[in-house]
Formats: sequence, C-alpha cells, structure tokens
Amino acid sequence: MENLKTRKNKIEGNIGIAHTRWATHGEPAKHNAHPHISNQVVSVVHNGIIENYLELKDSQIKQGYKFTSDTDTEVIAHAIELAMQSNNTLLHSVQKAIKTFEGAYGLGIISPHYPNTIIAARKGSPLVIGVGKNGNYIASDQMALLPVTKKFIFLEEGDTAELNLEKITIYDINGIKVKRPIKTSKIKEGEVGLGNYIHFMQKEIFEQPQAIRDTLESRVTKESVLVSAFGHKARDVFKNIKRVQIVACGTSYNAGLVAKYWLEDIAKIPCNVEVASEYRYRHPLVLDATLFVTISQSGETADTLEALKIAKKLNKKIYTLCICNSAESTITRESDLTFLTHAGPEIGVASTKAFTTQLVALALLTCSIGVSKETISKKREKSIVEGLKLLPGLINECLLEEDQIKKIAIRFKDKNSALFIGRGTMHAIAKEGALKLKEISYIHAESYPAGELKHGPIALIDDNMPVIAVAPNDELLNKLKSNLEEVKSRGAQMIVFEDKDSKVKPMKAMEIISITSNLGRITAPIIFTIPLQLLSYHVALIKGTDIDKPRNLAKSVTVE
Ligand code: F6R
Repeated sequence: MENLKTRKNKIEGNIGIAHTRWATHGEPAKHNAHPHISNQVVSVVHNGIIENYLELKDSQIKQGYKFTSDTDTEVIAHAIELAMQSNNTLLHSVQKAIKTFEGAYGLGIISPHYPNTIIAARKGSPLVIGVGKNGNYIASDQMALLPVTKKFIFLEEGDTAELNLEKITIYDINGIKVKRPIKTSKIKEGEVGLGNYIHFMQKEIFEQPQAIRDTLESRVTKESVLVSAFGHKARDVFKNIKRVQIVACGTSYNAGLVAKYWLEDIAKIPCNVEVASEYRYRHPLVLDATLFVTISQSGETADTLEALKIAKKLNKKIYTLCICNSAESTITRESDLTFLTHAGPEIGVASTKAFTTQLVALALLTCSIGVSKETISKKREKSIVEGLKLLPGLINECLLEEDQIKKIAIRFKDKNSALFIGRGTMHAIAKEGALKLKEISYIHAESYPAGELKHGPIALIDDNMPVIAVAPNDELLNKLKSNLEEVKSRGAQMIVFEDKDSKVKPMKAMEIISITSNLGRITAPIIFTIPLQLLSYHVALIKGTDIDKPRNLAKSVTVE
C-alpha cells in the first residue's frame, strides 16, 4: 500500500530520508510515520527510543511547539529546530540537541536550509554509512545498502556525521573530527537475492547445509575442534572458567537452551540460560570466572547488548564471548571473544539458518571447553566432529521430506492452537518449532517438555489441538512414548517426527514422519529443527500470511 502511494507521488530530488518504523510509541498510522518535521525546517528519521521524551515534550510545548504525532521522535525534530533558531548550523544544532536525549537513537536529519546535506547521529542504535560511487547513504543495517554499495563506515557510539554527494565528515562524541575506517562487505550479490525461491525463509531453510559447511570450515580438523576459532586467548579463557551464563532473545535464546544440555552433560560445566530482557533488569549476581555468552544473529538486539554491558559493569573479571552472524555488529565490538556463524545474510524475519548455525557454534563451544578443561576425551571429541560434518548431508536428506510435510500442513488450515512437545534438548527444539509457527502463521502455539503435560497443559487437549512431538532415538524415548499414549488417549491429533530407529507405535489420528536415523546427542536437535521449519513455512503458505515480513515483527530488534 505504502509503495503504491510513493510510486504515485513521484518525488524529484537527489537527497532524502525515509524509515520503516517498528512502532514503539503510538499506533502504526500516517500521523506517526517518519519523517517527523519541525516548522518545515528540520526533518528527522529515528531508530531507537528517546526515554525522556515526555519531559522534553512538556518543555517544548511551553515554548510553543505543536505536536502532530504520538511518537517520541517528534521531540528530536523540535530540539534541533530550536537549536537552529540560535544561528547554529544544522550539524551543530544536532550535536547540541542530542546532548539532551536519554535513550537510544540512530538518526538521519535534513533541512531545506542545507539542501545537499544529511546529518547522521547514533547512540545505542546501529547506524552505518554506505560509501557509493554516485552518492552516499545511511541505514541501520548494511544489508539495506547492498544494492547500492559494498563499502561501509560503521559509526561509533556518540558519533555524528555530515554527508553530501562528495564528502563524509565524521565527529566523535566530543565533536572532534575523526576518521573511521571504510570496510568492504564480503557479502556476495546472489546471497541477498531470492534466486529461484518464492520466499527468503524458504531459501534460507534450503541454504542450511551450505551455511553449516561454511560455519564449520577452518574451525575443525579431521578429528578435532580448533579451540582458537573462538579467539587466540580462548584456550586459556576456557581453562579458567567455572561456569557459563548464556543470554539471548527469541530464537537465539532457544539455541542457548539446547547448549545448556550439551555444556553440562558433555563439557561438565554448569550453565545458566536467560532471556536478555529479564537478565538486564533483575540485578543478577555475576560471579568471577564466568564465561558470559551472548547469542545473536544481528548483533544489534538492544536487550542482549544491554545485558552484556550490565554483566561487564557488575563484574569486570568475567570473560565475554558472542556468537553472532554479523561481523561488524556492536555486540562483536563489546565482547572479548567472537565466534562468527557463517550463515550468510538472513533476510526472512523468522530465523532459520542463523539458528542451526548457532547450534553448530555452540556444539563447537561445548567441545572446545571440554577439550580445554580435559572433561571430554579425544574419542568423544572425534565423534562430535565427525557428527557435525555429517550435518549438511543429513539436512539434505531431511529436506526431501518436504512433500510429506506439505500434506500435513493442510491439517493446520483451520486450527487456532497447536502444542509442541519434546524431552531434553528436544524441548528447546519444540519451543523453537512453536515460535516459528506462531510468528509466521499467527496460529497460537505452545511448547512443553513432554513430561510436564500432566501438570496442567494436558487439559487443553482435544481433537482441535494438534500435538506435534519430536521423538529422537535417545535415552528418553520410552518416557516420551508413554507421554504420547497419554496425549493420544485424550483424543489429540498427533504428528510425530521420529528417528527411523525410534519406532513409535502407530495410533489412530497419528501421522509419523521418520526423518533419518542414527542421530547423536549433538546432531539430533539440529536435524529435528528442519521439519519443524518446513511445517511452519507450509502452514503459513497455506494461510497466505506475509512470510518474510510477519506482522508486528522486525528483523533486528534494536529497541527494547
Ligand atoms: C524469531 C526471531 C527472533 C530473534 C530475536 C533475537 O524467528 O528471529 O526471535 O531470534 O529477535 O534476534 P538476534 O538473534 O538478532 O539477537
């Protein structure tokens, strides 16, 4: 709709700002849409949140400013306009105004008095400058600029920049002119296109074998893991740590839940996992000798970043590691150690290949900690590495089940809810399956550890509630089988994804999909993720939702 409007009203010119705002203040409506304009003198686009906007708004109202939106952003435009009234240049007005803002911002500002200039500013929110042959650009993320340039300058906290066609001048937090390096993105042209796929999510599901191959490359030898893949200090760090604290959001948090099982069971190190938005506010105890691990596809998730900063503030002696898919992101700059997942650009909002490569990274971390602490044997290390190398082939095998999964997806057409169950690491995979289904098909989905059903959720089960179970051939299989009987006897329609060797007993109204066999403790959760991704993709396709851009969601959540 908005595209049609802008296409109809063609705008002439060689400078401009625009922003798709993820609504934080005020409903998504025309009067709240960016840019916000003050007295026809200053136009602003803003990513982030100005936390003291009510205070600023009160004082600006007293000074005669009229507000036309419900956003926090409008105070930015007025504050800059006010500074311009005292004969400050646009740049100086921005530098003066931002000193009054509390919160986070990535800003783009223009003014008719400076017809060839864009001012950019950032604090707390990401902002990148694209250096092009025929122009210069700003964006929150380099991905948005790849069609026009591959050369980028990443602004630091507190920086402001003045851009015109010929020149980019950058100033640091104190207003002193500085040079920031120009970096060339390694992302290839084809990686950001759809190719033969209909949706990015579909493309990214099918890219997982390659993404995993790329993530493993140069990180393992024939039989062992290269601990130095986590940084040259990693071996010493891993030897000294006594515990692991993982903090992340959404899908990345689900990857952390899987890692908890691996780290405690395989590497024998205590591990705690928490969602970042809780961790950052609960005044946690941050003990010495903690490896504080953040997991983030974008490396810009505001809650995860803040949790990391808080942990570092609370205990300066901790070691920090980020597992991230974005090389130049803020989180990599804030962490002692970085492990980059080489998933390639993930464009679909629903995370797929980022998740499975995060799991690969966490498997390597488990192994590296175990090796450094001598809690795992050479034999175990070898078998983990060999298992990881089998993943691309196993995933390809799994992707062949797409047609069968497509047929099952039809069953969800008129369903309002679904329940995902699993035990051990499979509970985290069930949780991820439920998250995928709800975010792209808008069907309410819950996940439970299968053993927990009898403590309440089993009351939900009737023939309108499909139950999706993940059944690898592991030491909990018989327990899970009993749980399946319990569910079945309450009349549920069931879909079971099993290891070929699990041999789940067929029952009425139960669909069993055998995906592969001989999966191990590390490979099973990664492989069982694939059919769940395909299931939600096909349910969403049937429901006709906007798969790559589901409603109310943003790819990179740079506001809290
Ligand atoms: C779900 C999804 C989100 C993200 C979450 C964290 O499919 O993509 O739940 O996982 O917003 O994002 P990152 O990993 O960029 O920190």
